[in-house]
Amino acid sequence: MIRGFLFDLDGVIVDTAVFHFQAWRRCAQKLGGDFTEAQNEELKGVSRADSLKKVVEWTKASVNTEEFEALLVEKNEWYLELVQEVSEADGLPGAVTFLEQAHAQGIKIALGSASKNAPMILNKMGLTHLFDAIIDGNNVINGKPHPEVFLKGAAAIGLDPEECLVFEDSIAGVQAAKTGGMSCVGIGTPETLEGADLHFTALGDTTPTELVACFNM
Ligand code: BG6
Ligand code: MG
Repeated sequence: MIRGFLFDLDGVIVDTAVFHFQAWRRCAQKLGGDFTEAQNEELKGVSRADSLKKVVEWTKASVNTEEFEALLVEKNEWYLELVQEVSEADGLPGAVTFLEQAHAQGIKIALGSASKNAPMILNKMGLTHLFDAIIDGNNVINGKPHPEVFLKGAAAIGLDPEECLVFEDSIAGVQAAKTGGMSCVGIGTPETLEGADLHFTALGDTTPTELVACFNM
């Protein structure tokens, strides 16, 4: 029985994935390289430090420990500039309505985001009150595809993993959900999000009622 929803944030609820992409590209360009939108799929859902490791590898730059730490700070500053104006209007199609409907139906809701900026973004969007628990990059040791963020999310809302449905736009996040024993809705295509149980372009393409009925058949 599905009784709880675990949401990724960036690229599922709000259109911030594009800002992470822009900030990482700026970082790559500073290192004298670049990367493609296809490579960016590998960065989605991945922690800040693990993402930078990939960017450094792709650009073939040589970066010492101090430079690595400084780049992490700089990337975040660029990202923070880009998200300054984020508001409820930046919700992805149907996402806010979907969250409100799930909340009204008494479905337990937790956030399971890799981002240390997640609580700030939820506040800017005025959505914090819809969450029973918030687990973000500050609360985990192991980043996605490790299931820690979702296991902690399920525990925080008092449910077993199999009672939870995860919503994810990243392959790392889909793998985290499946490894954790949860059902998973991919926000994206079956090609990029292999392993998810169902796929939708956006949360607005389905409803909590439809999904609960589908998984609880
Ligand atoms: C994830 C994003 O939600 O959070 C990644 O998909 C991002 O792109 C990661 O790198 C970490 O975010 P932050 O805000 O802690 O740098
Ligand atoms: Mg995401």
